[in-house]
Amino acid sequence: MTHANPTPNPTTSPALSQDELKTLVGQAALQYVVPGDIVGVGTGSTVNKFIDALASMKDQIKGAVSSSVASTERLKALGIPVFDSNDVPRLGVYIDGADEIDGHGNMVKGGGAALTREKIVAAQSDRFVCIADESKLVQTLGAFPLPVEVIPMATQRVMAQFAAKGGTASLRIKDGKPLVTDNGQFIVDVTGLQITDPLSFEAEISQWPGVVTVGVFAFQRAQVCLLGTASGVKTLIF
Ligand code: 5RP
Repeated sequence: MTHANPTPNPTTSPALSQDELKTLVGQAALQYVVPGDIVGVGTGSTVNKFIDALASMKDQIKGAVSSSVASTERLKALGIPVFDSNDVPRLGVYIDGADEIDGHGNMVKGGGAALTREKIVAAQSDRFVCIADESKLVQTLGAFPLPVEVIPMATQRVMAQFAAKGGTASLRIKDGKPLVTDNGQFIVDVTGLQITDPLSFEAEISQWPGVVTVGVFAFQRAQVCLLGTASGVKTLIF
């Protein structure tokens, strides 16, 4: 991991809130948007800051491929055209947040339940630029409950398989009912795992019957992370 050009920011102070750090990295991500291109756009509160900043460039880009219904609605409300991923063979850059990122660009994602579409758009992009506040940077993935999107009928068995690996899995609930993703599936969140080998972990869990997507992004890891810190935006290059 290289720490490159920590951007001095005179307005930055240790008193900046997490929300303000998200705004900083959302705005900093604009430097990776190439005029004339279609941009891959992730999901979450940090990405919302990026989308808001992207509105200032909307006349310079063709549009976006979005990773969730929520991001699509926000993009469209700001007048940014949204393309179907099937109509865009390749994207130069994908910009998204993370729940955790390690020193190699491996991430845990899916806190916003959009992990499947996020992985799809990341896979069709040349470069993943992660935007995050410094609380997301970890030594080893696993402290944040690992989101896994599952086919509903496989939920109990997948949870039992995680228990056999030493984890504790629970079905994500919203408004008293299982949360249903944009793809019509469920999410289980798994605690108690130390993910020391993200690539082999992702490969293994992805093969379990009924698992749609595991929230470890090692095959689609980040190449760049714009990290919001008390001393400004740090650029980590992996
Ligand atoms: C959504 C995600 C988000 O990128 C992740 O949860 C981070 O979200 P936030 O920027 O709100 O902290 O993976 O599925």
